[in-house]
Amino acid sequence: MSFSSCRPNVTDKVSGNYGMIPEEQKKALDSWQTSARYWDKYRVLIAQIFAPLTSGLVEEARIKVGQRVLDIGGGTGEPALTISSIVGPTGSVMYTDPVAGMVETTQAEATRRGLTNIHFRQCSADELPFADRTFDAAVGRLSAMFFVDPVKAVREALRVIAGDGIVSFVVWGPKEANPFFSAVTDVIDRFVEVPPEDDPDAPETFRFAARGKLAGILEKAGAKSVIERRLNFQIEAAISFERFWELRTEMSGTLREKMARLAPEQLPTVKEAVADAARKYFASGTMSFPAQALIVSGRKLAV
Ligand SMILES: C[S@@+](CC[C@H](N)C(=O)[O-])C[C@H]1O[C@@H](n2cnc3c(N)ncnc32)[C@H](O)[C@@H]1O
Repeated sequence: MSFSSCRPNVTDKVSGNYGMIPEEQKKALDSWQTSARYWDKYRVLIAQIFAPLTSGLVEEARIKVGQRVLDIGGGTGEPALTISSIVGPTGSVMYTDPVAGMVETTQAEATRRGLTNIHFRQCSADELPFADRTFDAAVGRLSAMFFVDPVKAVREALRVIAGDGIVSFVVWGPKEANPFFSAVTDVIDRFVEVPPEDDPDAPETFRFAARGKLAGILEKAGAKSVIERRLNFQIEAAISFERFWELRTEMSGTLREKMARLAPEQLPTVKEAVADAARKYFASGTMSFPAQALIVSGRKLAV
């Protein structure tokens, strides 16, 4: 396992000294830095509930033994950690993320698991510090919607993969098909004034929910044979509403921000309203939300 420190224009401190990048992006990365400790706290649960996304990516990117794979925006380690065991000792995984806290927690987890075929670089998707054709495949789970310049990022991913390589990203489908998110946000938005979002390209969870949008980005970046696949699955785990509430309100930077704007006396009312909205997803005594994601893949060269 190896770790290379960041480049000067990305984070150079755990606390978030981001050098020359724009203010908005700094704010977003600071929020991810805070999120890192919560994503780490819920690591086992996240790995379980989002496992179908990793399986879908592995399948679409055709990842197999012996390959060199790049994970872009790896967060607390998925899909890099899973791919590390798929490619085995003859292959390798390069985990990347621009946020120091994410890199550190994943590195600690890789050490805990004794993984030797995983390497780390702290960097942003739109400036990958790798030579052309370094990898066989590049993947990103739930990260593409946060890329600053998605076309540039996909161009970078295509640049660093081999001629017969595949790039594959999984992103969330529409909010209405994902009550794991909307059951909470729709309620909270009734209590907190939310300024209307007028930029359809703002980095947020549902930025690429519209069918064809991310596929169009891949095509614009030069990817060939672009395919979009819809993945319907259940987000399920043997947890109570209480644990779900804790997980959602801690892990999401947007929710943390909105919750902070509520008066303390509003909190029980809001939580009760969310419990009502989410009740049917806990009817069996455990959590089970229907969910929808899109997996968008493309090749470097036409086949
Ligand atoms: C929703 S998390 C997903 C993390 C992980 N891949 C997973 O599925 O559990 C989004 C990740 O994208 C990362 N990210 C944000 N901006 C990015 C950028 N410009 N380039 C690459 N990754 C970025 C965040 O730091 C965060 O770790």
